[in-house]
Amino acid sequence: MSLICRHVEAMDGYVPGEQPHFPDMVKLNTNENPYPPSPRVGEVLAKADWKALRLYPDPVFAKVRSTIAALHGCRPEQVFVGNGSDEILSLVTRAFVESDGTIGYFDPTYSLYSVLAQIRDVKGKPFALRADMTCPTPPADWSDVFIWTNPNAPTSLMAAPAQLADFARTFKGVLLIDEAYGDFAPTDCMALATAPDNANTLVMRTLSKSFSLAGIRFGYCVGPEALIGALMKIKDSYNMDALAQAVGLAALEDLDWMHANRDRILATRERLTAELRKRGWDVPDSASNFIFAEPPAGQSAEALFLGLRERHIFVRYFPGPVTGNRLRITVGTDAETDRLLAVLQDL
Ligand SMILES: Cc1ncc(COP(=O)(O)O)c(C=O)c1O
Repeated sequence: MSLICRHVEAMDGYVPGEQPHFPDMVKLNTNENPYPPSPRVGEVLAKADWKALRLYPDPVFAKVRSTIAALHGCRPEQVFVGNGSDEILSLVTRAFVESDGTIGYFDPTYSLYSVLAQIRDVKGKPFALRADMTCPTPPADWSDVFIWTNPNAPTSLMAAPAQLADFARTFKGVLLIDEAYGDFAPTDCMALATAPDNANTLVMRTLSKSFSLAGIRFGYCVGPEALIGALMKIKDSYNMDALAQAVGLAALEDLDWMHANRDRILATRERLTAELRKRGWDVPDSASNFIFAEPPAGQSAEALFLGLRERHIFVRYFPGPVTGNRLRITVGTDAETDRLLAVLQDL
């Protein structure tokens, strides 16, 4: 008899993007920000009182909560903060899905969602994207929870907030809108989360991308008090450590810094897109800090991925029918983009 639960034994587990360490590498594979976080983060860390780490952190992250609430014009009770948005995703699958329930998401999308269904030992229900990789609206009874990544990954495409608003109105379960890349998009769905009549929609953000803080774990979601209260009930007592709370707060209080980095990334994204298109690549209009690009006919995305990798340029390749002829390339600095373009030309 195995000591391990059957469903755990049967699953492979999530495989995160590679985290290589070469001094000369160009790392464009996990959608991190190429620029450092706000200098205020540095100040907080420099002034941090290491002796105070003997004390537990604030279990309900009150200061962080009220700062996020002020940012989005809602009450602190409508804000939940997690150890990365990955933790929030995991808690959502535990709080809102019965043991015979279902979790819906698009196919393809962020590959963690299907793994979370396996961890919960419930049915994951992928809903296929259209042939042009845009998101169709799922049926109202598709699943108990539906996770709608907007902009979607790895496609980089955004669905209009009106489409999500219509879906939120009819959907019978909890809709979690994962806006990990929302700061890079022209619009967002936060108004759905804070609307007074909203009972079923959560909008989630992370500091990992636009705020350049993937190295600390800090995500949050906004929505109806009842749903947020359920997440508060089942979280670990001290899910946000003291440093993450202090650093996250400093970053959130310096929006100008984040916006300046975002603008630089968007300018580089447009340059990268235009140059690849000139070379015959198909590059959809991205609403994110990455592009999902198909090389010209006769060139294999997988071969280019491997060739780049040999030269310590890391991008992401997802085998599969919809994704296998494309590369997901994070937008880096201008110098990194120049190197990528030069090596692609050689290859
Ligand atoms: C769509 C999406 N959601 C969530 C995450 C995880 O974010 P975090 O670093 O806050 O756990 C990622 C990370 O790549 C992502 O792509």
